[in-house]
Formats: sequence, C-alpha cells, structure tokens
Amino acid sequence: PQYSLKDAYRNYFPIGAAVLPNQINNSKIANLITTQFSSITAANDMKPTYLQPKEGVFNFNVGDKIVSFATKNNMKVRGHTLVWPRKMPKWFYYSQGKAVGKDLLLKRIETHVNTVVQHYKGKTYCWDVVNEAIPFFGPNPLDSNKDSLYIIAGEEYFDKAFYVARKADPNAKLFYNDNGFEWKKKRDRIFEYLKKAKARGVPIDGVGMQGHWGIDGISEAYLRETIKMFSSIGLEVQITELDISIYPIRSSGKVMKAADLKSTSDAYTEQIQTKQAQIYSMIFRVCREMKGQVTGITLWSPYDWANYLTKRMGKKNYPYLFDENLQPKKSFHDVV
Ligand code: XIL
Repeated sequence: PQYSLKDAYRNYFPIGAAVLPNQINNSKIANLITTQFSSITAANDMKPTYLQPKEGVFNFNVGDKIVSFATKNNMKVRGHTLVWPRKMPKWFYYSQGKAVGKDLLLKRIETHVNTVVQHYKGKTYCWDVVNEAIPFFGPNPLDSNKDSLYIIAGEEYFDKAFYVARKADPNAKLFYNDNGFEWKKKRDRIFEYLKKAKARGVPIDGVGMQGHWGIDGISEAYLRETIKMFSSIGLEVQITELDISIYPIRSSGKVMKAADLKSTSDAYTEQIQTKQAQIYSMIFRVCREMKGQVTGITLWSPYDWANYLTKRMGKKNYPYLFDENLQPKKSFHDVV
C-alpha cells in the first residue's frame, strides 16, 4: 500500500506487531513489519520459559536478534513478559526435588526480573511486568490455581516484580497486562487490584488490555469507559495483543470453547470482512480520540497468520490487518 500504519499514527502512538523469529528472517515479511509498524513485541521469545529455561541459564539469543532488528529499523520494543504466573518454567517451583519455599521463590523472581530488565535496559521502552495474574473467578485477588506463584508467595511476588523492574531500568514504563477486559466483572477486578497496588506504592505505569476480541465486538461506550477508568488512577492504557477473530469470543457471557464453534462456517465472507473492519476502525478511532490516555496499540501478528487462534479454537481465522499474502485488508484501509 502507499500509506502505512506507522505514518498514519505518527502523531498518536506507536503501532506494534508481535513477531516470531522466522518472520523477521523472511525478507517479505520483514519488509511488511518495518514499513508498517513502529513497535515490536516478541510473541514468545522474551517469556520466562524462553529466557531462563534452567535456573541460572539465560538464553538471550533470539530475543537479542528481535531487539537488534527493531533497533536497526528504528522501531520501539515492548517487552513481553517478565512474570507470567501460569506459565513460569517448572523449575521455578522446585528446589532439590521439593516444593520451593516463599523466600527462594521471591529470590528467583528478583533474579529473573533484574537480569532480563538490565540486559535490555535502554532498548525496551516498556515491559509487561506481570501477565495474566488476576483470575476471572474465585475469592482470591490473584490466581489461586495450583502451581501458581500466589499460593506460595502471596501478593508479594506481584509487588516484588514491579519494584525490581523499576530499579533495574528506571526509564522503562511498567505495565500490568491481562485479558478479559471485555467482561465487566473481570475488568472491575483488575481495576480494584491495580488501584490498591498503586495505593500501596507499587510502581505501575500502565495497564495492557490484550484485546483478543471477536466479531461480536466490544461497545464503543464500554471501551471509552474502560480507558477512562484506568486513566483516572494514573495508568496509561495500551492495547497489547489485538486481534479481531472472525468468530464471536463470547456467548451469553461465557468464553467460547472450540466445541461451540464446530458447526460455525469458516467462510470469510464480505459481510464478516466489513463487520471486522468496523470493529477495528471503532477501536482505533476511540484510541486516537483518547490519545495521551492511550499510548499504544499492538497487533498480535503482522498479518493473517493465526496459528495461536487456530490452535485454540481449531478453526481457520483471519484476525489481522493484512491477509495471508501480506496484502492490506479492508480493516487496514479503514484504520489508516
Ligand atoms: C501466545 C503465542 O502467540 C503462542 O505462539 C504461544 O504458543 C502461546 O502464547 N496471552 C499472552 C500471549 O499474553 O503471550 C499469548 O501468546 C497469547 C495470550
């Protein structure tokens, strides 16, 4: 196309894409990424299991390649993610074959966060410090699934991660990142938790709404209200993993399971393309109108390579702004 996302949004905020290493190694895809986007996130390669697969063994290889690709092409880097309670490497929870105790677990959080943030200091302009820690249901403020950091270390692990990250790179913006903002109950839980955390002094700068949304959309009023809410407690807001699935993601409040979609057609009809473009342009318009409160939008893939959604729902998907042949879609034109 003759115009680009990054130029169109130059006076608003960075437009990012989550990338895989094989995408930046492919010259056509790399070209799409560098001409269209102004920010990059590693879709996987800076997660704890990738960066520290064994205790004390840090593997920055692939993360470094992604970061130097970004730097070389004048793109910002959104770091994702330092602490992901449900997806920490297994070793985090054990010490000499036994369940790890609280002190050692907190020490491991500290070492991981400190080492990674210092390594990328000055290169990552922000970090998802904690990812998906707040549950949809249940009596506890943080997730209490078995194996979680919360069971062993309580809320301290959350605070610790932010304090250590702040100290390791005082210039990086620190985010809490999560899904499910479209569901009021979960959004409000996140809001209450972050409000309290800020009140007790935890250095949180922003909230990331993942934005794995669907053709059933999200209402404009609700999106505005959500941004306003978080901004009222001094947090900047970013949409960090945006995709608009061609299927609905909720049915009467419940998140769709693959089985719920079994009989749904996977035809990417003109009607669905139009609907998807309307949702995309509404979201981008609201974010433009609330610039300052909103400081970034990242798509969870540069183009319709929907492995993550396909795996989860078992159905072909077309959730992004460029198609499988890297060509701009109606959604792209409308957003620009
Ligand atoms: C996903 C990646 O896209 C997949 O490649 C991987 O297999 C699993 O993780 N929430 C997040 C992201 O915060 O890190 C997830 O990314 C998608 C959901």
